[in-house]
Parts: sequence; structure tokens; C-alpha cells
Amino acid sequence: MRQSLVIGNWKMHGSRASVASLLEGLLGAEPASGVEVAVCPTYLHLDQVLQGCAGSGISVGAQDCSHAQSGAYTGEVAAEMLADIGCTWVILGHSERRQYHAETDALVGAKLSAAIEAGLKPVLCVGETRQQREGGEANAVVAAQLAGALADQAQLDGLVIAYEPVWAIGTGLTATPEQAQEMHAFIRGELAQAAGVDAQKTRILYGGSVKPGNAAELFDCADIDGALVGGAALVAEDFMSIAGAAIG
Ligand code: 13P
Repeated sequence: MRQSLVIGNWKMHGSRASVASLLEGLLGAEPASGVEVAVCPTYLHLDQVLQGCAGSGISVGAQDCSHAQSGAYTGEVAAEMLADIGCTWVILGHSERRQYHAETDALVGAKLSAAIEAGLKPVLCVGETRQQREGGEANAVVAAQLAGALADQAQLDGLVIAYEPVWAIGTGLTATPEQAQEMHAFIRGELAQAAGVDAQKTRILYGGSVKPGNAAELFDCADIDGALVGGAALVAEDFMSIAGAAIG
């Protein structure tokens, strides 16, 4: 039995004031029991969010980390630093990193190794573009992203995968539950062939325009174990309602 997991990716949003008010909403809401809940603010707001969430049952993560442990990498943040301040999670290989920062599967794989080494729980994002889906390449693209990042990993216990079709991110278009389930089952099949991964234990989250109105039907699918939520994670009531839909 895989415990449901709902993670909010706050992307590049927030000020100290807006983060304080979002935290107030999240912590004031009925705690979602039976589902694991996490939030991933910007690096700058991590400390504020870690302090705010202490003892609340909401865990905290970052949206990226460096592939390197330390050194002359201007602007980068090491996985070890994130673990040191109390982060639990790190999102890796998000399509926005792949698109705007030219992250390759090999780089994502190196970040994954760094995260695991530091004791962080990685959330590895995969997903195809609209053009790739229309060209019938969705499965091949996702399989290559998984193979590229998972090759040569020493230890993958606790790995979380997020399937985020690029065409569904921030667009209001959601994969239908059937489309999402089909890809999640495909991903689980690929994981079963990867060394060091227990495919049945690995949680596979769906991401892409998840809202309170569509969360329940997605979570009803056998291979969808939760969600990675963007826009709706910035509204406490919506995020907690999505988390509530994941219970069970
Ligand atoms: P939206 O929920 O805003 O579509 O974003 C999804 C996402 O990219 C989460 O990582």
C-alpha cells in the first residue's frame, strides 16, 4: 500500500508577507490525515517555511539542487545545504528546468545522485510535450527520461516520480484520468526494469493543472499516488482540498 502524497510546488512566487499568509492558511486548515503533505517554496523562503511548518506534519522541500557537493558554482545550492537546514524533499528535472536551463537527463541523474547522497528524498519529474504526444512519442520520451536519470544510481529507496505532461502545466488542460493512468502504469512498468527500484512501492504523482475539481477522479486511478501541484498550491484552501481528496 502506497501512502498518498501531495506536494505543492510554489515555483517562483512569494514574498515574506504572502508566504506568511499562505502558511497561516495551510496551518489553520483541518490537517489532512492519511496523506503526506509537503510544500516546496523558493530557496529564499525555505527557512521561513521550515520554521512555520515545524511540528505541523507538513514537510518541506526545494525545487532544485546542484549536481555538485560544493565549490565554485556561482548561484547554485547544494543538496547537502538543503538537508542541513531541514529540507526533506527536492524536486528534480522539472520541465521548466529542462526548458529554461537546458537540463539534460544526465544532469538530472547527477542531481539525483547528489540528493540521495545528502539524504534528501528526490521527486523526479518526467513528461512529454504536446508535440511529442501528438507524434506518438510520449512513452518513448518518458522512458528515456527515466532511463537517463536512473542509470547507475546506487540507491533509490524512497524515490518519487512525478508525471507532468508539459502541455498540462499551467495551461488549465489536464490529462484525462485515462491518459494519466495509462502513463502511470507505463512508468511503473519501466521502473520494474530499473535496477534498485521497487516499482510497487514507488509513488508516482500526477502534475499539470490539478485543481480541487479534478483531483478526486485522478486519485481514483490505480497508479496515481498523489499530485505535484503548481498554481493551486498557492491558495491554501485549494491545496488542502486537493490533499483531502487524496486520503484513502
Ligand atoms: P500547475 O498545477 O500550475 O499546472 O503546475 C504543475 C507543475 O508544474 C507542478 O510542478
